[in-house]
Amino acid sequence: MGRLDDKVAVITGATSGIGRRTAELFAKEGAYVVVSGRRQVEGQALASSLGPQALYVSADVAEDEQVENLIQTAMDKFGRIDCLFNNAGIPGKAGGVENLEGGQINSELAVLINGVLYGMKHVAPIMKRQGSGTIINTGSIAGQRAGYGVSLVYSLAKAAVIHASKCVAMELAEHKIRVNSLSPGAIVTGIFGKAFGLDDAQADADGATDDLLDRFNGAQPYPRAGIAEDIARAALFLASEDSEFVTGTDILVDGGMIAGRRWSETMARWEGLSQALAQT
Ligand SMILES: NC(=O)c1ccc[n+]([C@@H]2O[C@H](COP(=O)([O-])OP(=O)(O)OC[C@H]3O[C@@H](n4cnc5c(N)ncnc54)[C@H](OP(=O)(O)O)[C@@H]3O)[C@@H](O)[C@H]2O)c1
Repeated sequence: MGRLDDKVAVITGATSGIGRRTAELFAKEGAYVVVSGRRQVEGQALASSLGPQALYVSADVAEDEQVENLIQTAMDKFGRIDCLFNNAGIPGKAGGVENLEGGQINSELAVLINGVLYGMKHVAPIMKRQGSGTIINTGSIAGQRAGYGVSLVYSLAKAAVIHASKCVAMELAEHKIRVNSLSPGAIVTGIFGKAFGLDDAQADADGATDDLLDRFNGAQPYPRAGIAEDIARAALFLASEDSEFVTGTDILVDGGMIAGRRWSETMARWEGLSQALAQT
């Protein structure tokens, strides 16, 4: 028996990375999955690999009507939506406040904030009629703490997603609809290659992220790199009945990255201080 047997989940940003791995895990746990993203070849290939319980629907989340169509198509096909995972995202252009350009701010916010708002807007009436549902929005450590994102727009957008999730959780709790955000730390996916200007195919290619597995090993106190599976498992928790009493919160999945300083670093500083004091 799967943890999501007979549930219907819609996942945006499922053509690669975290969304793709989550779609695979949800399907394995018995869910019907509607996978979305703009890249049709990748989306269709994923849906085919998951079998008849999956459907691919193309949507640009920055466009309200396309998100509406995604939700409506999922309803037409499966008759209900138990989980919406608003996961689509882009890295945002690296740079600080002096590098901002008007068009860039708006186009990045349109994906990172509007996309999440459109998803919640269109699924809320459906979940209200059902009297149940769970919405998961992808935040980030960059939205939790300053200094963890290289794009100002990305960081503020993720902070907005985390806060919007709490606001909508309050609005929908009485209808037994749960809304939470999930904030990944450094997770090995193609988003980093995309941030450095690789095209999607190069960034997401098999082996393209192998180097990051080594580089991210020591990025957080827990001694291994974060992978898409880590986020997929947390999304599974939020999508399943195991989290029935969890709403209006942000779940960090970051190997302890923003909790504080590594113990070994603290002790090294302590040793350094104690040696310095011993010499005085
Ligand atoms: N990896 C990390 O370290 C990390 C850390 C914190 C937060 N996150 C967040 O996790 C989420 C997933 O990222 P990822 O790491 O898995 O990166 P990824 O592999 O690049 O996945 C991004 C997904 O978003 C989709 N997407 C981008 N723009 C879109 C648009 N306008 N409309 C619809 N879909 C769009 C992409 O599909 P198409 O190109 O086919 O449209 C792709 O499926 C993002 O929200 C990201 O900000 C990642």
